Parts: sequence; structure tokens; C-alpha cells
Amino acid sequence: MMEFSKNIFWEDKEMLEIEDVKVNYLVNPVGISGDIQIGWVLGSDKKNVVQTAYQVQIGKDLNFDHPVFDSGETSGDESAHVTVQGIDWESAVKYDVRVKACDNYGGESQWSTPSFFVSGLQTADEWTAEFVSAETPDDKDNSKGTYVRKTFDIKGKVKSAYVLSTALGLYHMFINGKRVSTDEFAPGWTSYNKRLLYQTYNVTECLKEGPNAVGAMLGAGWYKGVMGFKLFRNHYGIQTAFACQIMIRYEDGKSEVIASDGSWKGNDSPVLFSEIYDGEIYDAGKEIDGWDTAAFDDDSWREVNIVPVSRNILVAQNGCPVTEMTAIPAKRIFTTKQGDTVIDFGQNLTGWIHFKVKGKTGDKAELKCFEVLDSDGNVYLDNLRSAKETVVYICKDDREAEYHPYFSFQGFQYAVIASWPGTPELTDFTAWAVHSDMEETGTFVCSNPDLNQLQHNIKWGMKGNFLDIPTDCPQRDERLGWTGDSEIFCRTASYIMNTYTFYSKWLKDLEADQTPEGGVAHVVPDILTGKVDDWLLKDGTHSAAAWGDAAVINPWTLYLTYGDKAVIVNQYESMKAWIGFMQNHAVDGIWNYQLQFGDWVALDAEEGSYFGATPNDLTCTAYYAYSTGLFAKMAEVIENWEDAKKYGELYKEIVKGYQDHFFDKDGELTAQTQTAHIISLYFNLVPAEYREKTVQGLLGLLDKENGHLVTGFVGTPYFCHALSQNGHVKEAYDLLLKDDFPSWLYQVKKGATTIWEHWDGLKPDGTMWSPDMNSFNHYAYGAIGEWLYRVSAGIEIDEKNPGYKHSIIYPRIGGNLAFVDASFNSMYGPVAVKWSCIKSEVTLNVTVPHNTTADIILDQAVQVTDADGLIFSALENNMTAKAGSGKYSIRFIK
Ligand code: BGC
Repeated sequence: MMEFSKNIFWEDKEMLEIEDVKVNYLVNPVGISGDIQIGWVLGSDKKNVVQTAYQVQIGKDLNFDHPVFDSGETSGDESAHVTVQGIDWESAVKYDVRVKACDNYGGESQWSTPSFFVSGLQTADEWTAEFVSAETPDDKDNSKGTYVRKTFDIKGKVKSAYVLSTALGLYHMFINGKRVSTDEFAPGWTSYNKRLLYQTYNVTECLKEGPNAVGAMLGAGWYKGVMGFKLFRNHYGIQTAFACQIMIRYEDGKSEVIASDGSWKGNDSPVLFSEIYDGEIYDAGKEIDGWDTAAFDDDSWREVNIVPVSRNILVAQNGCPVTEMTAIPAKRIFTTKQGDTVIDFGQNLTGWIHFKVKGKTGDKAELKCFEVLDSDGNVYLDNLRSAKETVVYICKDDREAEYHPYFSFQGFQYAVIASWPGTPELTDFTAWAVHSDMEETGTFVCSNPDLNQLQHNIKWGMKGNFLDIPTDCPQRDERLGWTGDSEIFCRTASYIMNTYTFYSKWLKDLEADQTPEGGVAHVVPDILTGKVDDWLLKDGTHSAAAWGDAAVINPWTLYLTYGDKAVIVNQYESMKAWIGFMQNHAVDGIWNYQLQFGDWVALDAEEGSYFGATPNDLTCTAYYAYSTGLFAKMAEVIENWEDAKKYGELYKEIVKGYQDHFFDKDGELTAQTQTAHIISLYFNLVPAEYREKTVQGLLGLLDKENGHLVTGFVGTPYFCHALSQNGHVKEAYDLLLKDDFPSWLYQVKKGATTIWEHWDGLKPDGTMWSPDMNSFNHYAYGAIGEWLYRVSAGIEIDEKNPGYKHSIIYPRIGGNLAFVDASFNSMYGPVAVKWSCIKSEVTLNVTVPHNTTADIILDQAVQVTDADGLIFSALENNMTAKAGSGKYSIRFIK
């Protein structure tokens, strides 16, 4: 084992430690393909710790004496994204990873406790499994569940076995009577005809010498079921099918692949009906005992059909499975005035209800899920549109059974008990939030309980709409990957949870569904193109400003948050194509195209309209400029100097065109809307000499509404930024803290537990916005979350040194808050800020992760009373210091 040279040898101190080793952002991932990226966190009791060198080794069977990869001693401070390339990985093999590092004190860590990853398939040719279906084309119009199964022999002692599995439709896989994973809604929703994910599971312990059985339950899901507001079905195919291959290595060195093929058998399952929108019907009387065990006689089962699928579309999942995440016990069961028996879970959520039921053969338990009660306290179903959200369980005998849907999810806080054998008890019902499994990275609490509830609602809006793809809403007959919603919320989401693998996957579908000209579908995966003639979408199903810009803004946000250039490289052509699309359709630098959503659902819309008052030309051209500017920066990051120059120049031209077109000769914006001012300011599109005028214009428009926002999807996320970045922190806090209609806290005061689609979803007079589009779990307006982290807590990214390698800690004291306590778990460890303020005395506790630095800026400081070893100097109206890693407790007077 090598020794590190002690290049900067200051003093021998306690141990430097390697913590939290991740591979491709995940802890011990199973089934990954593509480049391998290793990251870790440094642990040390010291301050100002900088890594000076590292060594990464990857070996098999914990054999690091002959590693498969050895970086050797590599000097430098890279600890988040060490990329391993050029290795011929074997498929479905466990590789062990260990890391050691040296720091600037001459400290040398021990090797980290080994982590691992399991490789996915390395070449498409290795995929030999066929897609087996218990359905025929005649089943195209039904949404029943099926089983497929097969027995096979294991002829020796198994050293390792991994199963690679996927489906057309949704599946649960079983080996020898047990489910092989807790993943739900696998294989996830992708642009199936172009990209189909497969999962990889370790099944070494599931197999035994002798006969074994493998099987799967299948459901229609997004693949074959009804999706989209026109309620079309069979978007990708007409038959569900399952494919798996178990890759076995025996102790004696031999290996074998057991793959699904035409010798499998199929049958109907007890799932009589299952649809994403409408719910599920399960007849326990149709259960087939032991169907997934080797002893089962499947002679009476039917032959399976083989569904042809190109192996070239198969892609390893690379993380982020959907699973049950949070349990919420039922809070109360009550009877409405209209006589319905209703369960209330006290939280609007996405997932399902686990219930226990005891009846007689044929008895039915039927629950209909919904979001809100009407103003009389009765069941309100209208905003679900056609979605039935109904779950039916038919008892097979008089024993207590437990059930939740297999292939359907519901958006709900309440459920009507439409049928129940006996008397339902509170303890019979537990709701489970089901969503993509992402590490929670952000925490935010402050002294204002309403703001804390808002944070809660933002987080639950996220939990409710990150079910494999970023959706608009989880309850009505929509639940689609609207690009605009995703773009707007991306930065907030990336504070709350680690979104890297989630968005990376979705961005590949966005790219896959781009038009040949680079246009970006309104929803990804795109199931609308060619299918709708709806009033809204008759003019087009792709390329709207703020929506299509997800192609650029989401990768940029991931780059900022994680400092990972790979996302730029991976999405480069997609981003460039989108800019090209806008350029092709711009006339004299002003971009507009077919259907635009504009400042969607803004309150300055005409009565009853969804389209806000800000003109489309302006919104489109503002986003055209913004995305082009970001793209030019990203080209620079990956050192594509030619593009950086070309798009940098294009950006300047667009900005000039915008200024010439949308500002009059007196420097007034031609569109007198809040949103026009907000995006002009936030996107930096205002001529310098008119900036103050524009800021005053915005304040005037705010005043006109008595301090309220009337902005929609486009203006809302940046409203507080446009104020706080231009010297109006107080006004930003005032806006944030408004609690009468319309405002963020109005919803809170109305008892919201998630974020609403409309400011006036529920109006002050108790009436509701029209049921044709009124979701109470729509995360878009939750985009205010990023202002709370970035400005109120002051945990800000330095664009020049992203991923929190260098942070800018600049909390803005205000809003009458006595304290704010927030943290973000970065690639280097937690960045944390806690400030508290009594009159003019401020205490600020800051944690800067090791191997990173920060500028700490003390808001309005006139005197630092305790600098905790830092050296502060004056900076405009503040004081600032450069800090290395460590924990600081600073006091100052403002
Ligand atoms: C969705 C929105 C989406 C919009 C497009 C709606 O139906 O729920 O959130 O972005 O359509 O304007």
C-alpha cells in the first residue's frame, strides 16, 4: 500500500476521515452504466481543511492488491466528481471502491470503509431476454393485470446473482415466493419507444440449489393505459410484457444467464383493472397461491406471446427508483352533511392507502380518494375531472387482509368509504407517500410558523409530483411531465432533495422527444403530439417559452448545484438544438411561436382566462435571451470556445433587440405588468440607465395591487429576487409575508398542506376556481422556496465555482424574523446557516464544508463584535470575510 508524500506538512493532528463515498451520486448503487463518478466528503476537526491529494481504488471481491482501477496518488482538491473512464467493466459485477486523501495539514486519512457499485450491461448484445406477454393484441382495450412465470434449475453454489428486469407496462417481480425489491412503478416512465429503463437487483440470497421460480405481475401503467386529457390509451403499445435475465456466477467459476423466453407461462392476476387515473380493482378471490414458487404446476396456464423490442433502447436505470417514502396515519373518520363517511389524513399527498379489511367472500372495500372538501364540508370531486381515483378490494374469505394498489397512485388528502364490510376503524388506514427516492438535502426553519408551513407545503408539493417524472399534479386526469412546471421549480427542488439522477434521466427523455428542428415538447415524455386537438393545444404541442427552456435551465441548475460538468456535456446537443429552434423562428431577434402559455394563470389575465397579461413576444424573447446567455456560459465551462463566442454574441444581439423593442424612448417597459418588470430585471435585460426606473416601475405596480402579486408561472418564481437584488429586501419580505388574498401565505391560512395551482384555487368567499383546472397539489408556485434558501438563509452558489466549492453566505435579515436556521447538504457536506436577531444584534452561525471556501457577508453590518477568527472588511453597506472550512459563530451589530 502506497504512502502519500506529506507535501504541506504543518502539524500532525487527529485523523482526516473519508465519509459518505458515493458512486454516481448514489450510495452503493446496483446496475449503473456509463462513466463512473466517485465523490466523498472529508471529515476533520480542524478549520480551513483543503484536500491536497487523493487516491481512488476500485477492485473486485475486496481485492485492492490487484485493483481494476487505481488513480494513484493524484494531487488536487477534486473530491466531488472523480471520473473513472477507459475501464472495460464486466456486466452485472460488484466492484468495491475505496478512497483515501491528504489535507493541507499533512494529515492522511485511512482508506474509507469500502463502498461498491454493481455494473449494468456493458453492451446491448448481452441483453438476451425476450419480452413475454400473457396478453394478446385483443387485450388492447383492457387494463387488467397479468402474471408471467417460469421455473428454472440452479446447478451449484451461487456466488452472485443479479437480475436485470424491465417491462412494457409496470411490474412487480418475484423469485421463490418473494418480491425482489421494494421499487414501485418500475420501470418508470420514459419515452418508451426510444428509451426503456431496466432495473438491476441483487438476487443472490433469493436463489437456492435445485428448482427455483421467477415471475412477475404486470399492469398497464403509462405504457398501455389511459393518459392525457383526451383520455387516449395505448400510447406506446397494446400489450404489457415482461423481460428479465438473471446473471448467475457460481462459486466454481462458471456462469449462466437465465432469460425470459417463449417457454414462460402466463395467466390473469387478481388485478381486474388498474389505471393511473382511475385506480384499481383487486379480487383476492382470484389470487393463485404459490404461483411464484417452483412447486407450482402451471400446466393450465397459457403460452406467452413474445413482443418484439429493440435491445438498443434499453438503458440502465442509474438510480432514483420510486418507492413508499412516508407513512401518514389516518387522522379522523367523519360523516359529511351529505352523509358520506370520509377518512381524513390531514395531509394532501400522492401515493395510496394501505388498508386492513376483514369481511366475507365477495365483500367489497371501496375507497374513493380526493383532495378537498367544498365550502359546506362535503366531498368535492369535480377538480379530479374524469379521474376516478377509486380503489376496490374484493375479499376472498373472512380472514383479515392488507392491501394497497399495485399499479395505480392517487392524489388525495381524503377518501370516501364507498363500501366497507363492518365498521371502519381509524387504525385500518395508513396513507403512504410514494415518490422517487431522493436524498433530502435541504432544511429550513424560522421563527414564523406560517413560513414554516409554507416550506412544508413546498416540500410536500415536491413529494407529490416527483413520481418518476416531474409532474404538474397528481390527482386529475393529467399527471404529465409539463416542462414549464419542472423548469420553474427546478432550483427549489434542488435545495430540498438531491435531484441529479432524477432530472438527468428526465432530461434524456426531453432530448429524445425533441422535434427534428430542436423544438421541446410541452410534456415529457411527450404523449400529446399527434393526439390532441384540444382547445388549448390545437396550436401545437411543443416549444413554448419558459416550458421549452427546461432544456437549458434544468441542466444549468444541476451544474450550479452539483458543480458537475457532465450534465453540460450530456445535454449539450439538446440545449444547442433548442437555442437553434428559437433562433430559426425569431424574426428580427424577437421570438414567438405558435401556442404560448405566457405568464400562465396570472391574476392579471382577463376574467376566466388562463393567459396572463404579459405579451408573448416579451416573455418569449426574454427567455430566448436568458437561455442563450446560460448556454454561452456552459459552452465556456466545457471550453468550447467557438460556441462560447458565437452564443455570447447571439445573446448580446437578443438583449439589444429586447431593449429596443420592449422599452420605449423614456425607458419604460411597454408592457406594464409585474411579470414584464420581474423577468426584465432578473434576466438582466434592462439597460443600465433604466434599471432604477424599472425597479421603481415594479414597486409602483406592486403598490397598485396593494402590495400583492398578480403574477403567474413566469413572474412568480423571480418576484422576490427582482426586489431583493435591487435594494428592496424589505419589500421582498413584505410580499413573501402577505397573508391575505392573493399570496403564498393566504393558502397557508386557508389550511393548505401543499401548493395550489391557482392563487384563487379557493377564493376568499369560499368558492373555487373552475373545476376544469384546479389542482391543490401543483408545485410551480412553490418556486419561492429557492428565495428562502438563497436569500433569507443566504446559502448561495458562486457561479464561478459552483457546487458549493465556493459558497456565498449572505443571509438577509428581515421580515421581522427572530431567526432562520437552514442547511443544504452539498457534495462536500452540509453548508449551514443559522442567524438570529434581537433588535440590532445579530448572531450568525455558519458551517462551511471541508475542501470548500466561502465569502461570508454580514447584512447591513456596522460593527463586528465577534469575528470568530475571521477578518472582516467593509463592502458597500455590509462587511465581508473570506472563510475556509469549519464552523463559525459571528456576532455583529447592524
Ligand atoms: C398544467 C400546467 C401546465 C399547463 C400548460 C396545465 O394543464 O397543469 O401546470 O404547465 O397546463 O400551460
